[in-house]
Amino acid sequence: MDTLLTTANLALRTVFAHHHASRASPASEIVDASLSNAEKREASALMRVNHVGEICAQALYTAQALATNNDSLRMHLQAACKEETDHLAWTEERLKELGGRTSLLNPLWYAGAFGIGFVAAKLGGDAMSLGFVVETERQVEAHLQSHMKSLPENDHASRAIVAQMKADEMRHAQEAQAAGAVELPAPIKGLMRAAARVMTAVAHRV
Ligand SMILES: [Fe+2]
Ligand SMILES: [Fe+2]
Repeated sequence: MDTLLTTANLALRTVFAHHHASRASPASEIVDASLSNAEKREASALMRVNHVGEICAQALYTAQALATNNDSLRMHLQAACKEETDHLAWTEERLKELGGRTSLLNPLWYAGAFGIGFVAAKLGGDAMSLGFVVETERQVEAHLQSHMKSLPENDHASRAIVAQMKADEMRHAQEAQAAGAVELPAPIKGLMRAAARVMTAVAHRV
């Protein structure tokens, strides 16, 4: 019961509360370049997609931590989740600066990612659960790399945030690998990519 209440509390806080980063934003030292309204709109759409990605990361890690009986794996997942909170706070802050907003569908994204994470961890076991982390982080990293190209040329603040997130996600994948992840079957990877494409296309607008 305690665990369920803690999980519900985490879910509500992730979706509805304001987040505090434990590290300063990579954009904090950057003087804002002037962006046109169209550039701000485009940067906002991309940063909203990244924010949704971080909502999903919180949901996945929380679900996987709930699903495992292995204490050291749970601690590993909770530590990674804490670092993802920085990403959530940084993207949230940048969205505000750009005059954008977070996705209206965040409760839905959270619930979907939580369900997938929980089922994957329960069905696949710990090594598969870690494999799921590796694949998720790799896909997010590739996605962030594409944003380094598609963000407006002058949006140095968003770029600095995306670059740091990308480095962190790469490390999360390496850490999960070192903790004993197994490689996921190709069809599962394909399904994950397809789900990510839907999420990206929708969150770009809503
Ligand atoms: Fe992240
Ligand atoms: Fe990550």
